[in-house]
Amino acid sequence: MSAPLLVTFAAGQKGLWKIDNIDAVRGDILPCAERLAVTEGSLQPHFPAVWFLRGVSSNLRYTTEKEQTVLTARQAGLHRPDATRAALIPIRKTAAWWDLAQDRRRAIFEERSRHIAIGMDYLPGVARRLHHCRDLAEPFDFLTWFEYAPAHAAAFEEMVRRLRETEEWEYVDREVDIRLSREELN
Ligand code: HEM
Repeated sequence: MSAPLLVTFAAGQKGLWKIDNIDAVRGDILPCAERLAVTEGSLQPHFPAVWFLRGVSSNLRYTTEKEQTVLTARQAGLHRPDATRAALIPIRKTAAWWDLAQDRRRAIFEERSRHIAIGMDYLPGVARRLHHCRDLAEPFDFLTWFEYAPAHAAAFEEMVRRLRETEEWEYVDREVDIRLSREELN
């Protein structure tokens, strides 16, 4: 497991990623902007932004050793040159979710909702990084980030639809779906 990495997402007029669409899936939307800059590490972006969100990559909470082995074997890293599409999906879960004990949350997350099993169907086409921000007093609990090539765009939509139909998503009370694109890197 790599060390925690602070990541800042700044929406404004600068950044590698062009914001194509922002949808409120549940709860309040985020304001529109043209571009998104993703800054890794403790350096903060020094330019005006319409909004900032911060999160930290962290240790696993729910993943078993067996699942971790399969994930490690199958998943691809971020920043692939042909992964010119991305999604930033900030999510907040309900007080009822956070009131549950860890084993009850794991049962909903995987035994009943099959979150990891569903996600694995889309590896390695979709690369991902999960950022935690509940303990940073941010407006969301998680900032989920995905990168994929245009050829995997339809599969990505299917995955998101399957996850949103699960029992786990009954505990989501705010979700914003931000879609992005960029030029192919050389
Ligand atoms: C690309 C396929 C995906 C895979 C392989 C995957 C896998 C995982 C795994 C292994 C965890 C648990 C981490 C832990 O043990 O703490 C997790 C958590 C999470 N994932 Fe996914 N996921 C995928 C797609 C998605 C999508 C599309 C979304 C959002 C629409 C999403 C939202 C989340 C959230 C919010 C959590 C944190 C849950 C919590 O701690 O309550 N995932 N994912």
